[in-house]
Amino acid sequence: MAEPVIADNKPVVIEQLEVGTYYWCACGQSKTHPDKPYCDGSHAGTEFTPVAFEITESQTVALCNCKKTGNPPYCDGTHAKL
Ligand code: FES
Repeated sequence: MAEPVIADNKPVVIEQLEVGTYYWCACGQSKTHPDKPYCDGSHAGTEFTPVAFEITESQTVALCNCKKTGNPPYCDGTHAKL
């Protein structure tokens, strides 16, 4: 199994992410890193696919940039063990 690219060794905290559907980059190759870790199609040709997540109420989120979280797309602190 291929390993994702570590886009950053810390999460990005997004203040008041607006309601909507987002696609978190699982491969680590999106050019939108590290500020907006969203899929931009760069995973084409890899075994990775983005993770869709829904924000139903504007809120602050910490999104994983190391791509090793056990709870995608959210940071679970795994980056501290890399
Ligand atoms: Fe990484 Fe799409 S660019 S999952």
